Amino acid sequence: MKTSLIIAIDGPSGAGKSSSSRQLAARLGYRYIDTGALYRVIGLLAWERHISLDDSKGLVALCRDLPLRFISESTNVRVLLGERDITAAIRQPEVSQMASKVSAQPAVRQALLTLQRQMGQDGGVVLEGRDIGTVVFPDADVKFFLDASPEERGRRRHDELQQQGVTTTLDATLREMAERDQRDSERAHAPLRRAEDAIVVDSTTLSLDEVVHLLLQHVSAVRKC
Ligand code: DC
Repeated sequence: MKTSLIIAIDGPSGAGKSSSSRQLAARLGYRYIDTGALYRVIGLLAWERHISLDDSKGLVALCRDLPLRFISESTNVRVLLGERDITAAIRQPEVSQMASKVSAQPAVRQALLTLQRQMGQDGGVVLEGRDIGTVVFPDADVKFFLDASPEERGRRRHDELQQQGVTTTLDATLREMAERDQRDSERAHAPLRRAEDAIVVDSTTLSLDEVVHLLLQHVSAVRKC
């Protein structure tokens, strides 16, 4: 029986990656790593400190020695930068766009690649992102590509934003998401795409429990190999 697997979950925004990755990790007793949060932190800092997207040295300096901590709570993960709680700040729509823009910069990707590999190398982890199965851990034990229809992804993202108290319309959310997905899929370096050996899960008509059940079935099959 294989233990301490590396499980990669990639896919576009709103496909249900965060909730299902978190639950999958909890069910397996694994660590959950939200790699998007790393790009969001760099996006937030670049935005607050007015660091231009052309300033690759400035962006890379932000990635160095990040005093970042992820604190798991029952249904949530709090993100702390030093003593500052940035959990809500990194989810703002402006920061989502900034995260997507900084993530297209090769120097930022390279700096965060090392960090992500360090975080996951011992296994017993579920890593969620855009390029985990293709670039960060191309030899991951199990790879999933989670997707859903654009309408359903937009609706989920809009509900999520409303729960966080962000006022926005469904139309604006759909536009923002389409823009970000296009940038994430068309960038030159490590674009969002399905690894050839990834298992595709379309969550459009599935509940969260059904998705997690499906993921667990695939993981159990690999563990028995
Ligand atoms: O998963 P998320 O929405 O929190 O990610 C925010 C942005 O970070 C996303 O638009 C693209 C980028 N990202 C990436 O390029 N590679 C990853 N592994 C994770 C996220």
